[in-house]
Amino acid sequence: MYRYIQIDRTDGVLTVTLNRPEVRNAFNEGMIEELIRCFVAASQDGEIQVIILTGAGSSFCAGADLNWMKKMACYSEEENYADAQQLDCMFYTIDTCPKPVVAKVNGAALGGGIGLVAVSDLSLASMDAKFGFTEIRLGLVPAVISPYVVHKIGLSYVRELFLTGERFSACRAKEIGLVHRVVGADSLDDQVAQCVAEILKSGPNAQAACKAWIHILAESDLEEAREQSTRLIAKLRVSAEGQEGIRAFLEKRKPAWIKTRD
Ligand code: COA
Repeated sequence: MYRYIQIDRTDGVLTVTLNRPEVRNAFNEGMIEELIRCFVAASQDGEIQVIILTGAGSSFCAGADLNWMKKMACYSEEENYADAQQLDCMFYTIDTCPKPVVAKVNGAALGGGIGLVAVSDLSLASMDAKFGFTEIRLGLVPAVISPYVVHKIGLSYVRELFLTGERFSACRAKEIGLVHRVVGADSLDDQVAQCVAEILKSGPNAQAACKAWIHILAESDLEEAREQSTRLIAKLRVSAEGQEGIRAFLEKRKPAWIKTRD
């Protein structure tokens, strides 16, 4: 079903592993198509509550496959445009996925690899992971990832890091808000598992509503946000899941959605 990614489903958690370790999980058109297909399917799958995105081998993702990019020189501008749209579709699909996405950054994340971190909700990086918007050193610009990266770290760091293309440490990535936690390589799996266990305590419908809300919030002005936030809570507080969560708290029991996982 998939050639360039590997998937594993366990107890509501889907782990998506970029699986081209021989090229440090650089993405070609095949991997891009598979990631879109996988995240679209996961978005519609009621059994999946959290998605972990990680890389096989020593790197998280070395960005675009440079052999694929080299080949694109033989294509017309229109063909390149269509191809870049597909790349954007991959980032957009992950960014707007209604389930929480956790990036487990097991090693280098460069160029488009940082784009994958930027569109994740939560990111945990191994202490030895390296980052860098290396496009500029290849005579390119970090273009397609840029709207997502700007939302994550802001224009100030974007200006510095896009223009220098310098490689930076996981600690620096945390300092600028690109990753949320930096942990020793040996404890990355455990720390991600702990995060996921926390996420699994939340109401799945509320999580989807919350993700949609975060996107609206990012684009709205204060007046719009005030109007829409009051409508949102008015709707959710009478929803079946909202009522169950409130009742469970008052009755000092766990809500129905986590019963099966204990
Ligand atoms: N596209 C295609 N192939 C890539 C690649 C990419 N983005 N990144 C790495 N590879 C290939 C290398 O060419 C090498 O192939 P080879 O075994 O045939 O020589 C193989 O992956 C291993 O790379 P290597 O550099 O030896 O691995 P490393 O573990 O020492 O370093 C990285 C890993 C990711 C730090 C390093 O490969 C790197 O800096 N890659 C460039 C990333 C980049 O600039 N991406 C931006 C794209 S816009």
